[in-house]
Amino acid sequence: MKLVGGLGTSHVPAVGAAIDTGQQADPYWAPYFEKIEPARRWVADADPDVCIVVYNDHASAFSLELVPTFAIGVGSRFGPADEGYGARPVPDVEGHPELAWHLAESLILDEFDMTIVAELEVDHGLTVPLSVMYDQPDRWPCRVIPICVNVVQYPPPTGKRCHELGRAIRRALESYDGEDAATLTVMVVGTGGMSHQLQGERAGLVNPEFDAAFLDQLVAEPEQGRLRPHVEYLREAGSEGIELVMWYVMRGALDDDVREVYRQYHVPTSNTGNGLIVLENAGD
Ligand code: DHB
Ligand code: FE
Repeated sequence: MKLVGGLGTSHVPAVGAAIDTGQQADPYWAPYFEKIEPARRWVADADPDVCIVVYNDHASAFSLELVPTFAIGVGSRFGPADEGYGARPVPDVEGHPELAWHLAESLILDEFDMTIVAELEVDHGLTVPLSVMYDQPDRWPCRVIPICVNVVQYPPPTGKRCHELGRAIRRALESYDGEDAATLTVMVVGTGGMSHQLQGERAGLVNPEFDAAFLDQLVAEPEQGRLRPHVEYLREAGSEGIELVMWYVMRGALDDDVREVYRQYHVPTSNTGNGLIVLENAGD
């Protein structure tokens, strides 16, 4: 198994809609899509066999009747969820059950109490990052293992717990001895954010200074950054800015020392600060 790197990206539904409806060249969207082009080239070069996509379900697969803190999709196929306007016209996501079951076993025996999900429809939290990385292929070029994190119903897990989950994912990957283990290439994707608040008095809040400082610290000082309290995300990055804790799962899967390969930040997409970062292990 080779870990090719980590990618963090916002998962703004309007970006998915812009791709699905052919608006990438429109004046509103063109600057954003120009900025993600180098990341798309990096992903195409790295060409991972499997992406472990850390995302949150937005009450599409799980309602408030059942809210797992951490869950893993072990199925062989995950269709796009209907979020109210019909399912996105994107391919089904193909899973990797053998690696996913290995991850589930390793993580649970490593004391992370994952919820095991056999059937799962994936919403914009997972499909938009795939569109950001791969545009509009007939078939997604990688298999996907969905890892869901609750950031919708208080209390979400801490940044520290997310970072440790990432480290446990790395340990699990290193002990994988499935049939394809010798040649398998894996990328870990953290999604959500950046600063945004979708409702209430501060709807529309975007904080570029916070977003830049968050990324700087994620790269260089994760031991400090992972301790940021929830209330600080809420205050500085808006009520939905808490999605950023999921980027710490991606960060934990990488070495302590990483190289920042690429970063983009763009405002506005919908009414969010939209960021993307590509990291490689410094030793690679
Ligand atoms: C929006 C929704 C999201 O889940 C998100 O992370 C960012 C933006 C939106 O509805 O605009
Ligand atoms: Fe979201």
